[in-house]
Amino acid sequence: MASRNVMKVKEKKDRYQVCYMAGDDSGFDMMEGALLTLEAMDLPIDWIRADLGWCMWEKSIAKFGEGDPRCNTVPPETIEAIKKTDATLMAAITSKPGVKGFKSAILQMRQLFDLYINFRPAKTLPGVGTPLKGDPKIDVVMFRENTEDLYSAVEFRPLPAEMYEVHKGMERFKTKGEVAVSWRVYSEEGCERIIRAAFEYAKAVGRKKITNCNKANVIRATDGMMKEIFFKVAKDYPEIEAVEENADATAMWLIKNPQDYDVVVASNVFGDILSDEASQLTGGLGFAPSGNIGATTAIFEPSSGSVPKYAHQYRVNPCGILLTAKMMLDYLGLEDQGARLEKAIGEVLVEGKVLTYDVLRDFRHDPDWEKNAASTIEMAAAVGQKLNPQFTGKRLEEAKAKVKAMCDWTKTVGYED
Ligand code: IPM
Ligand code: MG
Repeated sequence: MASRNVMKVKEKKDRYQVCYMAGDDSGFDMMEGALLTLEAMDLPIDWIRADLGWCMWEKSIAKFGEGDPRCNTVPPETIEAIKKTDATLMAAITSKPGVKGFKSAILQMRQLFDLYINFRPAKTLPGVGTPLKGDPKIDVVMFRENTEDLYSAVEFRPLPAEMYEVHKGMERFKTKGEVAVSWRVYSEEGCERIIRAAFEYAKAVGRKKITNCNKANVIRATDGMMKEIFFKVAKDYPEIEAVEENADATAMWLIKNPQDYDVVVASNVFGDILSDEASQLTGGLGFAPSGNIGATTAIFEPSSGSVPKYAHQYRVNPCGILLTAKMMLDYLGLEDQGARLEKAIGEVLVEGKVLTYDVLRDFRHDPDWEKNAASTIEMAAAVGQKLNPQFTGKRLEEAKAKVKAMCDWTKTVGYED
């Protein structure tokens, strides 16, 4: 059971040290844009650089040689930086399939720092709206369990012979050639803490309803247990309506009646899928913030990928990482600044003068989207100017040079000699 509000930083301070990790490819463009906007705000934050992702995998291979067990996407320096700072802002990493020994950097961080909450709000944005008929107002907050389920990484391929004997249901697989098994592990503690986090959040912000999405009707052991724990925890929060629903039904009802959802709590895999769906209803992954939160720290990471084909071209939309930064400011107790940032993003989107290509193409249906597109940096600067009208001229140019140096992709930190 959480003994403190884990949605807020462990210790309130006058100044924070925040780790920033650009990741790979367009992650650098996003991070540079985000840091530029934040420069306009004079935040009480000292930034500490760290790197992770594909770039570090390659660097570790260059250092140790292919196949060396020390090769990883996360260097020890990065783990130290996350440990010693108050929170982490991350952009996006690149994964390549079929690479032997390669482990996703973010999955490792979720396990290593026990970041058991994946916090994913989906809210209709001004100037972006929703593709749904009638423009329903969407404001869903998803609590996805972030460490268990099929992400427990307990897997068998090939399946050891003795595993065929542990359950009579395995009998029929004995004649079916190769069999692979991934364990769907749920623990009482794992279920209880994510469910309690969702209720505590709802209580703190005055939300009225929580939906637990599961398949307890079919997957009885795991989801059956989660459902039971959900209603047990719900008893401690009589003011909040607690309902459970089949996750497949949620996938449908989210599209038909999204306004019926308030807080959603789901296991890792269902939360992974449902949060992508919810984000699509509110602008897509380019606008989707997310936070990996645990008892000791939090890593804030937009849901979007690293768009390798546009790497270092400053084409990607900065909104996802800026809304993620807003989430981080709330976490640090800088809620007023967070609210200002969100408002400024909305103003730029509504004004519609400085928009990246995707916003022009997908939400303005501008036939000249290619020609009229603003860069990541231009759009980030426009948000900065909404926050601070003095963020122009020399001040802006200095800030641009500063964040460019902070996000130099040729100067990654980690696996140093
Ligand atoms: C997410 C992503 C990750 C996940 C991948 C990139 C490992 O889809 O954050 O939702 O599966 O959790
Ligand atoms: Mg996902």
